[in-house]
Amino acid sequence: MAAPGGSRRAQGEFDRLQMPTIEWNQRWKRDLEKWTAEGQEQPFGYQWGDPDQMDCLREVRERFLLPYVDPGATALEIGCGGGRWTRDLLGFGRLYCVDIHAEMFHYLLERFGPQAHVSFVRSTGSDLPSVPARSLDFVFSFGTFVHLDPPLVEEYLRNLAPLLRPYAHVVIQYSDKRKPRAAGNPGFAPMDVELMHALLARTGFAVEEEQNETLPHSNIVRARLARAGHPLRAVR
Ligand SMILES: C[S@@+](CC[C@H](N)C(=O)[O-])C[C@H]1O[C@@H](n2cnc3c(N)ncnc32)[C@H](O)[C@@H]1O
Repeated sequence: MAAPGGSRRAQGEFDRLQMPTIEWNQRWKRDLEKWTAEGQEQPFGYQWGDPDQMDCLREVRERFLLPYVDPGATALEIGCGGGRWTRDLLGFGRLYCVDIHAEMFHYLLERFGPQAHVSFVRSTGSDLPSVPARSLDFVFSFGTFVHLDPPLVEEYLRNLAPLLRPYAHVVIQYSDKRKPRAAGNPGFAPMDVELMHALLARTGFAVEEEQNETLPHSNIVRARLARAGHPLRAVR
């Protein structure tokens, strides 16, 4: 897969490091099956931390998620998994849950019950089929972009932009290979602050705020479209 054009440093990283691809991300379906077969009491996803218990996750929830929940607004979550964050996003008036595995949707249906305001969107990796243009007020993704290689992150951002209302907030947790817990883990994407900001800028986003300190392998950024209504073409 080609590196996004521009940075030589970024190209060097793509050459050097193994990237977590869409194929690599097939593991989450097997993990879910194992979790369910073992009869685990906690919902799938809590093995990576409970947002009610871990300080760094509590901050994510209280600073980057809960203030934006609005029954009059529309949200989209990329990589909903077992619903660790979906639980709070259900407070939006309309919610799109995106994942590459339909099994996650069945799990959420069982966990939360059918909800008239929730739609499930099966992505093949970076597409967002059936989500209407300029319909989203809030986008959230945690535990997912950390495992997406940078060209896929760029494609997602490019595909997302035309679906946003002009002042929408986009909150994404991404891998930071400069942090030791990500550097030693081939499942974490070859990404850092500089590259993520470059991808955001290149796809028409401006960074509004970021937490770089508390998460041990990653950062979380909130961005918005740099220019309301800028013309971007979707990547197929
Ligand atoms: C590590 S789990 C995290 C799930 C949940 N967000 C959480 O924090 O508990 C990653 C989730 O992202 C999904 N996923 C992986 N690659 C994806 C992609 N390219 N697009 C959408 N979802 C993806 C996986 O199927 C899985 O459900």
